[in-house]
Amino acid sequence: MNLEDGLATAVAIAREAGQLLLDGFSQQKTVERKSSAIDWVTQYDKAAEELIFSRLRAEYPNHSFIGEEGTETEGTEAYTWYVDPLDGTNNFAHGFPIFCVSIALYQGEKPLLGVLFDPTRGECFTAVSQQGAFLTTADGRKQQLHVSRETELISSLLATGFPYDRQTSDENNVRQLAAFLQVAQGIRRPGSAALDIAYVAAGRLDGYWEFKLHCWDMAAARLIAEEAGGIVTLMDGSPVKMARKLSLVVSNGRLHEPMLQVIREA
Ligand code: IPD
Ligand code: CA
Ligand code: CA
Repeated sequence: MNLEDGLATAVAIAREAGQLLLDGFSQQKTVERKSSAIDWVTQYDKAAEELIFSRLRAEYPNHSFIGEEGTETEGTEAYTWYVDPLDGTNNFAHGFPIFCVSIALYQGEKPLLGVLFDPTRGECFTAVSQQGAFLTTADGRKQQLHVSRETELISSLLATGFPYDRQTSDENNVRQLAAFLQVAQGIRRPGSAALDIAYVAAGRLDGYWEFKLHCWDMAAARLIAEEAGGIVTLMDGSPVKMARKLSLVVSNGRLHEPMLQVIREA
């Protein structure tokens, strides 16, 4: 597997899918409900997923594919593509311009490459294992990403999100949110987990936590954060192990233990 070719392919596909989303953003959306009344999907999530997997399959017919909107095929080689065709569906459906396309390639547990494309800002976040994380801006400038150097929670800007079962489950992040509101400088809930994590990589945020993410939400962003010098663990501080659902803390490293402590004590 040539990772440079893989990255170029994934970037081209993410940009193409991003354009599809951008074209749909101003159009009428058809919304269907999935796991709960607040878990939506539009025709553009599905169209983007179809486009991404048809392109990936053409290039890598022997790989495995996992996508949010139902794609799941097992290949003969030990490579798996994780795709969220539209991370931030609720934002997209409401016309709130924060969403992205997420594509990642893993070899078993090992993340090999990750791409996030935010079509409204024209920002493309990329990482290849051991080669750093980068942002290519709308005007084509490419810059290496580094996490922030913030050491104090009281000066830190954090982000989080809430699971779709929050109205029926106790593990809904309400206690943790209340605890962080008391100790951080600011909390944001932008509505795209993948971009939240990439913003930690870019130093725009100092940390992020969220319960019950899906593997496709975090697969690409997690590598981008790690390659930018960030730390990514499960909510109890243990190393990330890929699973259907996982609860994550992402930080600039310096704030990791303080964030874990707030979560433990909430
Ligand atoms: C959701 C977004 C949101 C996060 C949810 C995710 P979707 O993904 O990333 O920010 O809080 O946990 O499921 O449904 O828009 O692809
Ligand atoms: Ca998602
Ligand atoms: Ca999605």
